Amino acid sequence: MRLLSLLSLGAAVAALPAAVDITPRASISKADGLKFNIDGVTKYYAGTNSYWIPFLTNDNDVDVIMGHLASSGLKILRRRIFFWGFNDVKSVPGSGTVYFQSFSGSTARINTGTNGLQRLDAVVKSAEKHGIKLIINFVNNWTDYGGMAAYFSACGVSSNAQWYTASRCQSMYQTYIKAVISRYRNSNAVFAWELANEPRCNGCQTSVLTNWIRKTSDYIRSLDSDHMITTGDEGFGLAGDGSYPYQFGEGIDWAANLALPNISFGTFHLYPGSWGVNNDFGHGWISAHAKICQRLNKPCLFEEYGVSDASQHCAVEGQWQKTSRGLRDAGMAGDLFWQLGDRVPSTGQLTHNDGHTIYYGSSDWKCLVDEHVKAIG
Ligand SMILES: *[C@@H]1O[C@H](CO)[C@@H](O)[C@H](O)[C@H]1NC(C)=O
Ligand SMILES: *[C@@H]1O[C@H](CO)[C@@H](O)[C@H](O)[C@H]1NC(C)=O
Repeated sequence: MRLLSLLSLGAAVAALPAAVDITPRASISKADGLKFNIDGVTKYYAGTNSYWIPFLTNDNDVDVIMGHLASSGLKILRRRIFFWGFNDVKSVPGSGTVYFQSFSGSTARINTGTNGLQRLDAVVKSAEKHGIKLIINFVNNWTDYGGMAAYFSACGVSSNAQWYTASRCQSMYQTYIKAVISRYRNSNAVFAWELANEPRCNGCQTSVLTNWIRKTSDYIRSLDSDHMITTGDEGFGLAGDGSYPYQFGEGIDWAANLALPNISFGTFHLYPGSWGVNNDFGHGWISAHAKICQRLNKPCLFEEYGVSDASQHCAVEGQWQKTSRGLRDAGMAGDLFWQLGDRVPSTGQLTHNDGHTIYYGSSDWKCLVDEHVKAIG
């Protein structure tokens, strides 16, 4: 009976006049060997970062900006620092301020209100509409927008190093992860779940972070068997020229973490200005990671990069993109420049310029987005 009615429904639909859907069917993004498969297409992908997009309180603003990404051919959007998935506060701000989680005494409260996760809902919905894929991140190592430090007094620790291993902190963190995943578990706009923004554990044995990454990625996998999972780290700790970023002092053993079974792809960042190396360092840095990805047969995402001297954006970052693209059959699967800039339609204001911002429609955009996307093909 049930089968019959389904069949007749199918027949009725087939008999309707042709309303042909030419948009590719959205599907779960996945790793396909050393590359990413997005909506059925396996290739190298370009994207960007925006920490501010979930803080826009006007849905149309979000939608117009997502439309700019889509029409420019950028596919992946990662929201760093407060808003991808995290914006933890120690005291509850005024009702106009967007936050996702607050802490008081020894309890954590998740904000599912209109100035809470409902803002993330609007971003996810707009991404679905425009075919943009989101990397959703769960906590920040740094104190911008709260981060691990916002948990400290509630879970009884005083450092990031303790936060990774304290069961009370981890259970609050996992409760938050579960709240976010249960909201978007079935969305094809989710590209990947990300454990943290730039997790570090300075001076710790690398096993501290490796164990935490294993435990957290297994936990996420137990909630969601489909979407990809990644760490969100800067890419430290691997064989190279011995300069600071290659060292293991920040507690990262990059290859060991990437080898974990429930980690789907590797991430690394590049900020020579903050790391005491020169801009040319970037080329070797990209290939060193690509080699490990190749060895472990998982894609590499060049997840953040920037130079703060605006006159160098195109010249320097354009060359890094070229190196990354050039390794597209050898481990590199995509890159996301830091960070997106645009004019907010409802206010006419430009979004925050942190010195790294690439504004939609600017000459830097032409160089780092239009030409890059064209070269990717
Ligand atoms: C992020 O991690 C590094 C290394 O552990 C640490 O020095 C820094 O203080 C951390 N940031 C915060 C906000 O705790
Ligand atoms: C991945 O996570 C799942 C869910 O927690 C777990 O059952 C599985 O053992 C993990 N995979 C491996 C190979 O460890």
